[in-house]
Amino acid sequence: MYADRIRCAALREKITSAAEAALLIKDGMRVGASGFTRAGDAKAVPLALAERVRERGESLQITLMTGASLGHDVDRKLTEAHVLARRLPFQVDKTLRDAINRGEVMFVDQHLSETVEMLRANQLGKLDLAIVEAVAITETGGIVPTTSVGNSASFAILAEQVIVEINLAQPLSLEGLHDIWIPGRRPHREPLPILGPQDRVGTPAIQIAPEKIAAIVITNVPDSSSTVLPADAGTQSIAGHLIEFFEHEVAQGRMPKRLPPLQAGIGTIANAVLAGFVDSPFDAFEIYSEVLQDSTFDLMDAGKVTFASGASITLSAARQAQVFGELERYRDRLVLRPQEVSNHPEVIRRLGLIALNTALEFDIYGNVNSTHVGGTHMMNGIGGSGDFARNASCAIFATKSTAKDGRISSVVPMVPHCDHNEHDVDVVVTEQGLADLRGLAPRERATAIIEHCAHPLYRDLLRDYYRDALKSGGQTPHRLDQAFAWHSRLMETGSMLLPDEMLL
Ligand code: COA
Repeated sequence: MYADRIRCAALREKITSAAEAALLIKDGMRVGASGFTRAGDAKAVPLALAERVRERGESLQITLMTGASLGHDVDRKLTEAHVLARRLPFQVDKTLRDAINRGEVMFVDQHLSETVEMLRANQLGKLDLAIVEAVAITETGGIVPTTSVGNSASFAILAEQVIVEINLAQPLSLEGLHDIWIPGRRPHREPLPILGPQDRVGTPAIQIAPEKIAAIVITNVPDSSSTVLPADAGTQSIAGHLIEFFEHEVAQGRMPKRLPPLQAGIGTIANAVLAGFVDSPFDAFEIYSEVLQDSTFDLMDAGKVTFASGASITLSAARQAQVFGELERYRDRLVLRPQEVSNHPEVIRRLGLIALNTALEFDIYGNVNSTHVGGTHMMNGIGGSGDFARNASCAIFATKSTAKDGRISSVVPMVPHCDHNEHDVDVVVTEQGLADLRGLAPRERATAIIEHCAHPLYRDLLRDYYRDALKSGGQTPHRLDQAFAWHSRLMETGSMLLPDEMLL
């Protein structure tokens, strides 16, 4: 049984049920599970754990680390069973988000390239257990991941014990897509030898001592499909402004005609903007990113993208069936890497990436808040946006100029939480327009951002704030007593608009 999936015959004796395997998880453990933007997540054992704890009213809490977000309501069910004491480095689940914001789950919001680096340096304690989804185990016990690599390789290498979930719903043809490269110990580490998105520098499987594999669970469940919404007028305008910007960069000789490799963040806006490139004059470009969404495959089909490197593939249900049903069409143009490699500062800097990520809001000086609604409440996490923004040759942040039917301006006097500071942000763009901040001093940035990016409903309010702030002087003028007045007003009245403007 499963001879093609578990090719190391001795390991077939380790096949067990998810419930049995979940018994390996004890109170207080640190567990590393596969899963990155809903792709390649361990789907059976964490759910069996949640079910057992809930049914028996057991008191068991763990630290759960993953690559990024999980599918299959795993985070919701673990939260409802009160299993999560600590969670890192990223999540997108509403139930977990609420528990984090109530202070019930300690959430460590980390740059995605750093989690396993910290684990390896013993800064996060010892990892007790790894749970990794795989398409197969090789003759030598190598674990072949599925639709994401994320942190799975280092979790499996660093953990004391490993549970492998062999998912029969994931096609065996995924084998060969992965490139597992693990950095050496510091301070004598060698350079990461990736010179282009297509370079393969590692192995196709995660090599660990087979005796560390404590249990194998057979599953047959596809990945949760992505939740991104289709492009709309706003995201199409954002894409239009960006394409115009790139055309201008090429005309000025600042970017080559064949654009530098592109990174695009998670979510509806980034996916829609990337999809906007289908109708652009640019072609033959490469993607060096984290998550490969539908848009990557749209661009490949349109002959625009020649190669895509990522840490996961997260697709809509329709695209999942098509892409994994005919993987041969794409496999020469794809590679999946550990997230510490896809997000590695050295490679991002070397390749001169264009990084496109999404903001919740940015301020008149170009500081970006991507994580904290109202400055206090966690949305998802910083993800890889910081890894890319700091090291890219051009760091772009996009958002619609307003949220919640115009009640919130996404351009504010001062961000109440800062994920990406003005020093890391080159370009900001909304459906209203684009502000190129490179080489501009804060006072010049303020004018560019207000005039190009703010929604007309809020432009005068921002002009008033800035004019007032100038009276106090400074390199970065502010009215500290007023800087968060817009956010306070939102909390008090449900809108950032002044009461008389709300009547309009
Ligand atoms: N204040 C409050 N809420 C806001 C807001 C603001 N300034 N701006 C947007 N929102 C809300 C939207 O209304 C929407 O709410 P809903 O889910 O109730 O409809 C939600 O935030 C998502 O916004 P949306 O406009 O649909 O954008 P998105 O799906 O592209 O997500 C982020 C935007 C910022 C939440 C998302 O990109 C993210 O988590 N980024 C951080 C991590 C990251 O960049 N990772 C990529 C690295 S590769």
